[in-house]
Amino acid sequence: MSNIWVKKPLSQLLESASDSGKGLKRTLGAMNLVALGIGAIIGAGLFVRTASAAADAAGPAVTLSFIFAAIGCAFAGLCYAEFAAMIPIAGSAYTYAYATMGEVLAWIIGWALIMEYALGAATVSIAWSEYLNNLLGGAIPYEYCHSPLEHVNRVLGSAVSQFPADLLKNAKDGVLLLSDAQLAELPANLQALVQTTSGMINAPALIILLALTLLLIKGTQESAIVNAVIVFIKVAIVLIFIAVGWGYINPANHEPYLIPAGTPGHEGFFKHGWGGVIGGAGIVFFAFIGFDAVSTAAQEAKNPRRDMPIGILGSLVVCTILYILFSHVLTGVANWQEFKLAGKEASVAYAIEKYMLGYEWLATAVTVAILAGFSSVILVMLMGQSRVFYSMSNDGLLPKAFSDLHPKFRTPYKSNWILFVFVGLFAAFIPGDMAGDLTSFGTLLAFVLVSLGVWMMRRNEPNADRPFKTPLVPIVPILGAIICTLMIVGLDKATLLSALGWMALGLLVYFGYSRHHSRLKNS
Ligand code: ALA
Repeated sequence: MSNIWVKKPLSQLLESASDSGKGLKRTLGAMNLVALGIGAIIGAGLFVRTASAAADAAGPAVTLSFIFAAIGCAFAGLCYAEFAAMIPIAGSAYTYAYATMGEVLAWIIGWALIMEYALGAATVSIAWSEYLNNLLGGAIPYEYCHSPLEHVNRVLGSAVSQFPADLLKNAKDGVLLLSDAQLAELPANLQALVQTTSGMINAPALIILLALTLLLIKGTQESAIVNAVIVFIKVAIVLIFIAVGWGYINPANHEPYLIPAGTPGHEGFFKHGWGGVIGGAGIVFFAFIGFDAVSTAAQEAKNPRRDMPIGILGSLVVCTILYILFSHVLTGVANWQEFKLAGKEASVAYAIEKYMLGYEWLATAVTVAILAGFSSVILVMLMGQSRVFYSMSNDGLLPKAFSDLHPKFRTPYKSNWILFVFVGLFAAFIPGDMAGDLTSFGTLLAFVLVSLGVWMMRRNEPNADRPFKTPLVPIVPILGAIICTLMIVGLDKATLLSALGWMALGLLVYFGYSRHHSRLKNS
């Protein structure tokens, strides 16, 4: 049993880092790295999950949830910066764990990273589908753009007018949406007017995944220019929404700021008050995922000692400021309660269309920019996942197919196809919130272990060259680990159970396959 704790020697890692470094050019400056971070960061977390966090846990105080999540990310980000500068090879947190905590923990992190990247891609593709449907005016039938685990209760046409006035605030474009609880309380004659439709398959999510998989296999790289263009559009749209929306804030929507205890449907500790702020942080944490992608570009940074911290922390600071302002405006324009039903999907477009009259063009512009922005996030996530698989396969922990390169395009095409099937199954058949929460779990777990890993590495290899040093070790790693653990605990029970199931499956694979094929142990 003891050899499941075998560690990959730092010298061996650095050797492969210098090998693989031959082909890479140091071209990225600090600003490129900040842009790379923002390109991977701003996506469904901001445009979809802000509304979910407000509706489910934090209310208008979702702004505070963003601050809480940002603090956890800043601590973890400092730790990533140290490792990224020290061990600049593909595999990110998985590789760092192999060097510090041994093979089985590295495997656990790699398995958790599948939740971060693969399920992250699935989540954003589901959000992509929501916004595409919004852009098309809801033309895609509900069944074909939702998972079988979702359903909707709708009243259509003239029947809507027969319903009580307090329910009508959830009506939009002549369609009234009802929660299951509201439906159950209706008298039988009104219940008979309600149509319940279940989802079957999320086809648009599959289509965008297929398109981006083909792009990845072709080897088309997001150049710094393309990335900068998408970042420019995304940030411009966020700024315009903040600037224009500010004038439409209804201060009554921000009262009370925290969800009061006793609000129906908000019984748990993490569902109201300050607990809800933490619960909300666990949900919007998703919006910050991607800054770790900056760390994977360590090898391409011109001056990693100085620019990695600027890239990681700079993109975090810019996004945090934007997120706080954005969520303040969004929960001011529409009431957080509306995001439970009518404004649950495509919430930003919903708020603009319903309350910012005369700005319908902005709703369309926002939607187009969001679709472009989501695509870049999905691309980076799929790419990140195939890199982690590549490292795990090179180490023998996954089959060789995951590191086979295409003879012409030199991309891990088999891995990309397997990934498409895997991610596609999630995107097609499970709801976005569920995939998003699992993504947050996987990432948070990686952050906790990377934070602790920095501390362990300082003790095990005190004299190794560290181009960038996390300040105040062990205080920063410990605080990072504590805050990220709190956010894990604040996630839904169902999420935690599914995540534990996933991790248990991972251990079965490790003990059934990987441990016998480990290259390090067999060498
Ligand atoms: N942070 C990325 C997003 O919000 C994953 O879409």
